[in-house]
Amino acid sequence: MRLSVNVDHVATIRQARMADEPDPVWAAVQAELAGACGITVHLRGDRRHIQDRDVRVLKTTVAGALNLEMKATAELLTVALEIRPDMCTLVPEGEGELTTQGGLDVIAEEVQLREAVAKLKENGIAVSFFVDPDVVQVERAKAVGADIVEIHTGIFAEATDPDEIQRELEKVRVAAIAAREMGLRVHGGHGLTYRNVQAIADIGEIEELSIGHSVVSRAVLVGMDLAVREMVALLEVME
Ligand code: PXP
Repeated sequence: MRLSVNVDHVATIRQARMADEPDPVWAAVQAELAGACGITVHLRGDRRHIQDRDVRVLKTTVAGALNLEMKATAELLTVALEIRPDMCTLVPEGEGELTTQGGLDVIAEEVQLREAVAKLKENGIAVSFFVDPDVVQVERAKAVGADIVEIHTGIFAEATDPDEIQRELEKVRVAAIAAREMGLRVHGGHGLTYRNVQAIADIGEIEELSIGHSVVSRAVLVGMDLAVREMVALLEVME
């Protein structure tokens, strides 16, 4: 199982101060050195975290695969076609949402998605659709030309009742098996944490997981000890 690390929230911290640190590009280097197969960033219409500059620099620095998540708007497609990441994951984007709320409605947005797929593929960019664990959406993703489906694991991740967790896990498994049988590559992501990832990682059809919030949250905490020690040491030198 491969891990693509989503570094959006490194940029969230930077943008909170409109500063130049922490740089998601540095975080991406460290993530790859630690074993990530690649890096994911979500370029939002409102540019609340990742900036165009980040995607441009990451294109030249990421050694594995650079996955650009975006809504299939004309504006973002222009950016994607200019920068040419290895892969684009098309996602829905609601105004004011804290994070992606669910998978694409491939049926309702078919015309727009078809056009986006054609342009991205013409430019050698692999296309992934972020879809709910729903076989009908997976079938439409295949029909519209996606190479990959990323199955939304967020509902599974948010479930608290053990029966509900099992039901949601089963939906992810069934969708993953169906996608694989259709010849799609299968990825997964959203809401995965150090506690819940194992059950999803056990689904053999899923090749890759995209994980962001939990990894960046852990990085802040496991890095706190060294960061404080370094500042204390500096202050002691100054005494
Ligand atoms: N996959 C998609 C399509 C997403 O939009 C996100 C969040 O940006 C993720 C995966 C990663 O989710 P999380 O930050 O909860 O790990």
